[in-house]
Amino acid sequence: MKKSLSILTIVALVIGMQSCAKDYEDNFEGDYKIQDWEILSKHLDLPSNYYDYENPVFFGDPAEVTLGRVLFYDENLSDAGKISCASCHKQELAFADDVALSVGVRGEKTARNSMALGQFRSFREYYASSNPLPIFWDGRATTFHDQMIETMSNPIEMDIDINTLVEKVANTDYYKVLVKDAYGSETVSAERITTALDQFMKTLQNADSKFDNQRVNHSLFSNFAGFTESENRGKALFINNNCNSCHSLEGTNTVTFASNGLETTYTDLGYFNATGESSDKGKFKVPKLRNIELTAPYMHDGRFTTLDEVLDFYSSGIQSHINLDSRLKQGGLPMQFNFSSDDKEDLKAFLLTLTDQTMPFDEKWSDPFKS
Ligand code: HEC
Ligand code: HEC
Repeated sequence: MKKSLSILTIVALVIGMQSCAKDYEDNFEGDYKIQDWEILSKHLDLPSNYYDYENPVFFGDPAEVTLGRVLFYDENLSDAGKISCASCHKQELAFADDVALSVGVRGEKTARNSMALGQFRSFREYYASSNPLPIFWDGRATTFHDQMIETMSNPIEMDIDINTLVEKVANTDYYKVLVKDAYGSETVSAERITTALDQFMKTLQNADSKFDNQRVNHSLFSNFAGFTESENRGKALFINNNCNSCHSLEGTNTVTFASNGLETTYTDLGYFNATGESSDKGKFKVPKLRNIELTAPYMHDGRFTTLDEVLDFYSSGIQSHINLDSRLKQGGLPMQFNFSSDDKEDLKAFLLTLTDQTMPFDEKWSDPFKS
């Protein structure tokens, strides 16, 4: 009698426990299975429902973007386990770095200034406008897959062989969950890794700047009601002095390369590296200027620390170079804009209206790792 009672008690207890667990499962409202969610939560501070990454030009899969976000911030993926993409592409700096040359996994410096991934109104819109894609300051990569394989295996940057990386990802419990969630199976491949990273970058939008918010209601060429007088003057100077013809303020225009006359003889030959054409020596990818306030230092080698220095350069420092762009020449000689100090103040005031008010702080692009 006693014995059967205790068996009954145990049975009742087990049923009770199961129904408790069942309640917990039923009450868990999220895009993940509860077991998966528990694995993720050990390492990552992800919301139980995916962030909304949709925007007017991006309709990707949030599970894939989430995988990309985790990969982007994962320091375990470089050889010595200290460097992630985010080490050189920092969200609060519009995904640029604040040093002229970034420091890679072995403490060595990169050959060029890190590029801001948040320099476009819309990353996806910008890159969709050009095929093949010219990537890097010299356009030597034409797909993000190639760009990433190069960055990862670069001995100065991350120094990890893609096969080793695939193995590392395949053996990490949270990636088993994230990869299956994104692709339906746990199989890890170089393709899946780079595609997820690519999708993450393509969600970047910078359409919440003072400029963009005014542009919605005004033609580019009219005075913006919400701008100060100085900002409007700066905008007019930016347009009238051809700055806009290279650094287009609108989202979609093809990617261009140009020499802006930083040197009479360039040590870094830029676009020539990609094409081998001597007419491309000294040309670099024309950076877009969204978030320019956040992406100092400037130019492919980070030579200018401030926007004032950049404006001084355009005002009176353009050098004669055989490939100097015609928009920066007058009578065959380098253009001397000779901006007054008011002009420079106004141009700078205008450039500061290009800072996005959301992207640099939005959690959905932030580091998901629990510290
Ligand atoms: C050690 C610093 C460092 C790390 C780590 C790093 N990058 Fe970069 N990134 C750079 C530099 C420097 C450039 C410009 C290189 C050049 O033009 O030669 C660049 C350029 C890029 C570009 C080209 C942008 C454009 O508009 O052409 C992309 C995209 C990019 N990085 C993404 C990534 C991703 C994704 C990762 C992680 C897999 C990563 N980077 C890791 C420093 C780094
Ligand atoms: C012929 C095209 C062209 C014109 C016109 C032009 N730029 Fe540039 N600009 C470039 C190129 C190319 C670079 C990058 C050069 C390099 O790094 O070697 C650049 C770089 C810059 C940068 C630094 C961006 C960064 O992310 O490092 C700023 C700011 C800038 N230009 C502002 C201006 C202003 C203001 C004007 C008008 C007075 C102007 N530019 C006119 C082509 C142009």
